[in-house]
Amino acid sequence: MPQRNSTLLLSLPLFFLLFLSLSPTSHAHNITRILAKFPQFSTFNSYLSKTHLAAEINRRLTITVLVVDNAAMSSLLSNGYSVYTIRNVLSLHVLVDYYGTRKLHQLSKGTTLTSTLFQASGAAPGTAGYVNITNLKGGKVGFGVEDSGHLNARFVKSIKEIPYNISILQISQVLTSAEAEAPTAEPSALNLTTILSKQGCKSFADLLKATGADTTYQVNIEAGLTVFCPTDGVIKGFMPRYKNLTAPQKTSLLLYHGIPTYESVQMLKTNNGVVNTLATDHANKYDFTIQTSGEVLTLETKVITATITGTLIDQEPLAVYKLNKVLLPTELFKPTVTASPSEADGPSADAPQSDDQAAADVNANGARGVDGGRLTMVLLSLCMGILLM
Ligand SMILES: *[C@@H]1O[C@H](CO)[C@@H](O)[C@H](O)[C@H]1NC(C)=O
Ligand SMILES: *[C@@H]1O[C@H](CO)[C@@H](O)[C@H](O)[C@H]1NC(C)=O
Ligand SMILES: *[C@@H]1O[C@H](CO)[C@@H](O)[C@H](O)[C@H]1NC(C)=O
Ligand SMILES: *[C@@H]1O[C@H](CO)[C@@H](O)[C@H](O)[C@H]1NC(C)=O
Ligand SMILES: *[C@@H]1O[C@H](CO)[C@@H](O)[C@H](O)[C@H]1NC(C)=O
Repeated sequence: MPQRNSTLLLSLPLFFLLFLSLSPTSHAHNITRILAKFPQFSTFNSYLSKTHLAAEINRRLTITVLVVDNAAMSSLLSNGYSVYTIRNVLSLHVLVDYYGTRKLHQLSKGTTLTSTLFQASGAAPGTAGYVNITNLKGGKVGFGVEDSGHLNARFVKSIKEIPYNISILQISQVLTSAEAEAPTAEPSALNLTTILSKQGCKSFADLLKATGADTTYQVNIEAGLTVFCPTDGVIKGFMPRYKNLTAPQKTSLLLYHGIPTYESVQMLKTNNGVVNTLATDHANKYDFTIQTSGEVLTLETKVITATITGTLIDQEPLAVYKLNKVLLPTELFKPTVTASPSEADGPSADAPQSDDQAAADVNANGARGVDGGRLTMVLLSLCMGILLM
């Protein structure tokens, strides 16, 4: 079979390519950079980095990456797999051969089997690491893992083709494979809801458990996770508005308080800007902006500005910080434009929130750092967080 032969040939110059990719004159592709231009693949892209597959892809030539959008990634992640299992699944999506759109639609005999990085990893039993590509009726192209016996994904569109170095094709779904999804678990010793409950965020932890959002949080720990928990008093004041949300909205709101990367205080300070959250998916951005003003770190949405008031844990791969407000995404709450100048936005975080308060908050942004009492408090708690590292 020609594909298997080319796989063999490819693995021979691997060390040479590795050397090339380390040299500064290399013109090799950078999958992270290419996919960064497509927000709909941000989850897939971040998992390529987390699983270290990005480096593997960058050091290879004549490959094809089958990408899926954030919605498809969400359904994979909802299974609660360890990052090691996710690596196996995603490595099935890297074909060690070049398939541009043309070649894809003109397979000899209309079907082919092609080897993947999962096969190359040695973790795949038998031929479990081969992907079947088949031309279907009406110009459609089906993809499936050979052992699964069915073609569960369809070709959607070409994202980028650099002949014959790398081709990036979107497919409709994650390729299913019992072998790749087999447990490779290394359960994390860090129990998020316990950490939250013991340090003033019990109400938030209870909401996570009640909605099942805790699973999404927990599974993200190993690959890096930062959580922003509104403290118990804040959640108490927010409950009337929370109860008003539908079940999916509640889940989205809770997932909005986590970002799928590990961020120390230092990293948050230097990485100011827009970040995706665990709630980010295909249709909805659910992002917010991290801002530093002096020593004060704020999280801003168009609806509200929340301040980080302390550190619960900062231990790679997990960081958890306290918030003085619930983060309100524009996807669920209307931004208000009317400012109320008489806003009393002290550290009495227990008071219920109002949109007016939020609007005033945004406008009072510049004056924030001058609030001496709170600044000291924030400084102290941040320092304590650093000392505990
Ligand atoms: C393909 O990769 C090689 C080696 O990195 C590089 O020299 C070449 O410029 C690349 N081709 C294109 C079209 O980018
Ligand atoms: C690839 O691009 C990303 C994002 O631009 C960058 O952080 C990373 O260092 C690059 N990797 C290499 C090997 O150049
Ligand atoms: C790919 O799968 C299809 C449908 O299951 C099958 O008909 C075809 O023979 C397979 N192709 C190869 C090369 O095994
Ligand atoms: C975390 O601890 C609680 C209480 O001990 C337990 O019910 C829960 O299953 C644990 N979660 C995980 C993911 O281990
Ligand atoms: C709940 O929703 C209704 C209808 O949108 C609205 O009138 C009411 O003010 C909301 N209550 C709270 C507490 O936000």
